[in-house]
Amino acid sequence: MAEPNFKNRTLYHGDNLKFLRGMNSETIDLIATDPPFNKNRDFHATPDSLAAGAKFQDRWSWERDVHQDWIDQITDDYPRLMEAIESARFAHSDGMGAFMCFMAVRLLEMWRVLKPTGSIYLHCDPTASHYLKAVMDAIFGWRNFINEIVWCYIDPAGRRNSSHYKRTHDIIFWYAKDQNSRFDSKIPKGPLSPSTIKRYEKYFDANGQISYAALKRTNPGVFKALKSVPDDLSMIWLDRNKGTNMPDWWADIAPIKRKGNRQKGESTGYPTQKPLALYKRIIECSSDENDMILDPFCGCATTPVVAEILGRQWVGVDIWDKAHEVVVDRLENEVRMFGKVHYITEPPARTDDKRPAAPFLRVKQRYDEPPGPKMSRAEMYEHLLEQHGSRCQGCYREFDDPRYLQLDHNVPRSDGGLNHISNRILLCGPCNRLKSNIYTLSGLRRQNKKLGYMSKGLM
Ligand SMILES: C[S@@+](CC[C@H](N)C(=O)[O-])C[C@H]1O[C@@H](n2cnc3c(N)ncnc32)[C@H](O)[C@@H]1O
Repeated sequence: MAEPNFKNRTLYHGDNLKFLRGMNSETIDLIATDPPFNKNRDFHATPDSLAAGAKFQDRWSWERDVHQDWIDQITDDYPRLMEAIESARFAHSDGMGAFMCFMAVRLLEMWRVLKPTGSIYLHCDPTASHYLKAVMDAIFGWRNFINEIVWCYIDPAGRRNSSHYKRTHDIIFWYAKDQNSRFDSKIPKGPLSPSTIKRYEKYFDANGQISYAALKRTNPGVFKALKSVPDDLSMIWLDRNKGTNMPDWWADIAPIKRKGNRQKGESTGYPTQKPLALYKRIIECSSDENDMILDPFCGCATTPVVAEILGRQWVGVDIWDKAHEVVVDRLENEVRMFGKVHYITEPPARTDDKRPAAPFLRVKQRYDEPPGPKMSRAEMYEHLLEQHGSRCQGCYREFDDPRYLQLDHNVPRSDGGLNHISNRILLCGPCNRLKSNIYTLSGLRRQNKKLGYMSKGLM
């Protein structure tokens, strides 16, 4: 595992993608983060508050916000992820697609920087949660999904007269990097439900417990239906005192009341501030003391403050230029921590083996790209058109409209083929489908000849 190339209590001011791309792999135990929700509006802090002047834009446009290199990276290396993004774009809007692209390139890096034991809590709401879950499944793998937590609260603004049920919950997705090696979470316990107590009332022993052996004797039907039974039947199946795991809906944590200023409770006036109690539950459950916690969208530092209170290490990132002052102020006031924040505006430079973000779905990459400037997909396309004309390189058919030609790899990516221009070809749709990940270009031509699909003119 690589050494972290950042210090505990680092706060980076700038775009989190730069920071994430500079971080060494597998250096983070837990990510607890609350990105924009794609609310199609701008957020402003309350005037006269600690966060006065803060604002961030939560509107997304495909033309304005999506960088060509993101599309290139995702299309070439993570085609299944691109499909999740395209489906959001198709089902909802270009803006939703743009937001998914923005999140996807960052989530890929978040996956990379997590340790194999690590996990991520991604805070969102029903505006985009259904699309984000598909993106998370594509990056983290659906098998690594742990919970969809529903944080229910009373509408803090007390709005009335809506034409629908009040929207009073957020969603928090919890994914492991790898279910098989994930940290042994400390799920908070709640009391047993009244119906469970009623049902088993007469079977509890003097200690308020029911062993497997007792269950087998008293409730053979329930015992038979158990998915797993320990060898030692004297072990405890139900313990009234210990209670049971909390459910995945949390209704006991109040939201921040934004109207107040700093004197009223924990509000800093920051528009999307989340309660400390919410992030305390998350961090306590999924990390140990001294673990490294990352929040790449830390806003007014709820995650760092909780991490500090709980004795964890932390790294926070925000693009808002006043975040630093608010973080320092909060840490001084709420944790009595003075002068220990490493405020940086230059992202770290990776000192590990620079493996690319490599989720399970990534196609294999065995070689380094040749040095020199990287061409975008559009530039490669133009270059190949200039070299070969608007002719398919697989069947030699000529097309009046070059849009019939698609950019593909000669050696498939799944066999280690490069994204470099030296490995790029232009194929018509049928050749592209036939080639798939199976053939190289020469293999495709042989197959085309065999099937009689070669353009007669050049045979
Ligand atoms: C929903 S708020 C986070 C609020 C935070 N949980 C809190 O309690 O204060 C999202 C934050 O993401 C930040 N942000 C948006 N785009 C960013 C980017 N590309 N890089 C870093 N921060 C970004 C915004 O400035 C905003 O503070």
